[in-house]
Amino acid sequence: MTTIGIPRETRPGERLVAATPTSVGRLVGLGYDVVVEAGAGSAAAYADEAYAEAGATIVEDAWGADVVTAVNAPSDERVAALRPGAVLVAMLAPAAHPELAERLRAQGVTALALDAVPRISRAQSLDVLSTLSNVAGYRAVIEAAEQYGGMFGGQVTAAGKTAPARVFVIGAGVAGLAAIGAADSLGAQVRAFDVRPEVAEQIESMGAAFVRAATAQQQVSTDGYASALTDEQEAATAAVYAHESAEADVVITTALVRGTAPTTITADMVAAMRSGSVIVDLAASGGGNCELTVPGQRVVTPNGVTIVGWTDLAGRLPRHTSQLFATNVVHLLQLLTPGKDGVLVLDLEDPVQRGMTVTHEGDLLWPPPPVAVSAAPAPVPPPAPPAPVDPRPAARRRLVGFALAAVLVTLATSFAPPVFLGHATVFVLAVFVGYYVISNVSHSLHTPLMAQTNAISGIILVGALLQIGSDDWLVTTLACVAAALASINVFGGFLVANRMIRMFRRDA
Ligand SMILES: NC(=O)c1ccc[n+]([C@@H]2O[C@H](COP(=O)([O-])OP(=O)(O)OC[C@H]3O[C@@H](n4cnc5c(N)ncnc54)[C@H](O)[C@@H]3O)[C@@H](O)[C@H]2O)c1
Repeated sequence: MTTIGIPRETRPGERLVAATPTSVGRLVGLGYDVVVEAGAGSAAAYADEAYAEAGATIVEDAWGADVVTAVNAPSDERVAALRPGAVLVAMLAPAAHPELAERLRAQGVTALALDAVPRISRAQSLDVLSTLSNVAGYRAVIEAAEQYGGMFGGQVTAAGKTAPARVFVIGAGVAGLAAIGAADSLGAQVRAFDVRPEVAEQIESMGAAFVRAATAQQQVSTDGYASALTDEQEAATAAVYAHESAEADVVITTALVRGTAPTTITADMVAAMRSGSVIVDLAASGGGNCELTVPGQRVVTPNGVTIVGWTDLAGRLPRHTSQLFATNVVHLLQLLTPGKDGVLVLDLEDPVQRGMTVTHEGDLLWPPPPVAVSAAPAPVPPPAPPAPVDPRPAARRRLVGFALAAVLVTLATSFAPPVFLGHATVFVLAVFVGYYVISNVSHSLHTPLMAQTNAISGIILVGALLQIGSDDWLVTTLACVAAALASINVFGGFLVANRMIRMFRRDA
């Protein structure tokens, strides 16, 4: 039977682990034997006993297994411990470390890079980079809150009021959106900017205001990645960053262009920030988005701005990061085990599996062929020229329609009583005004708006009450029915509006 090995991570300070007791249970369910190195999950609070209960065997060395799944790339010594023909699943950064790829090839190992999963929808469930970015975005806000000497949510107390923190997020990818959500949930006023204009809606749906800079935003990216800015765009974004950072209490930068960090916050911008403000630089490991970031360190500038450059933000929440990472690994192994029989089958025709395969059977398969990604809408092919259509029947129909309408209007103005014309004019004007008013109200507010406008039924209610005392039994009956229906509309409308408003209240 195929054995999966889960080693202890050896990188100094690493707290993550590639499997949890729950994920071990799922791997066993796929037909694998699982061996876990003693203490592998202890930094993430997963005890050896829990792994054993889930069906794993606790061992001293898991590097001799048929399949080794780890978080980080192995050292040379570990690579040498891998069996020829073994499968290694880990974050291998093959583009940055071709020498490691070469060693794995020479060792006869099949190496699958977890950090090279193509950005297509189908692969989202095994994308560890999204997992790490999401947790890092959340943790960046926690770090900022710790460094910031105030509360994120504004308060009104008997002792006076405090203003909410102003948070500015640069880059609204996975990490940026997570940061926006976390800062918003703590009550901060969040503003965000991204060079990809298509993320505006996502930024707003997470509770932040989208900072617009017309020339600074690029056209829709065609491959799911932002590209480097033109000089004109650089200047426009710099103006946005300077203005927003000077106003902000907390700046969280997450901007990356294909893994490298562009400078977004210059030393001059930091100098213009208020004392006590905080910058958390999520791009610190790639050099940093802020000119003054020191990767792995927290620095305080002479004007009192704290710059946090931790490079292990996701690892600072080891329990949940390991849980999500391990689930990504399970999803990969589900893909690689079509028979659920503990037999690993690598299908190089599948773009997801091919995209992450670095070495296989002694061959170097990196870089893989490009994959069309789903993060951005695919370029739309130019539409085929429409088949020639004879325009005459449609034009004739339109002409007949106009003629009919003209006849009807002439008849109405000649024969209808004058009062009808007045009512008809008011009706047509009301339709126009109603159309333009309602079409300018945001979609999310349509339900409360319609619920409130039910109160217009109050007019029916007044009319019904005036008629209810009529001598004619038919009029009285109709008035009662009208009053009942209008009441349902009025009171029901207020009930619905009340429920919707409660959904937006924080204390609900
Ligand atoms: N499997 C998938 O389908 C998949 C996986 C991962 C990400 N995605 C998508 O890809 C997109 C990018 O996600 P990511 O988190 O990996 O992005 P990323 O980490 O590559 O970049 C972070 C963000 O920074 C922005 N940015 C770059 N330069 C900037 C600058 N100078 N100023 C401001 N912002 C700048 C980018 O536009 C991006 O939004 C998202 O839409 C995400 O949902 C899809």
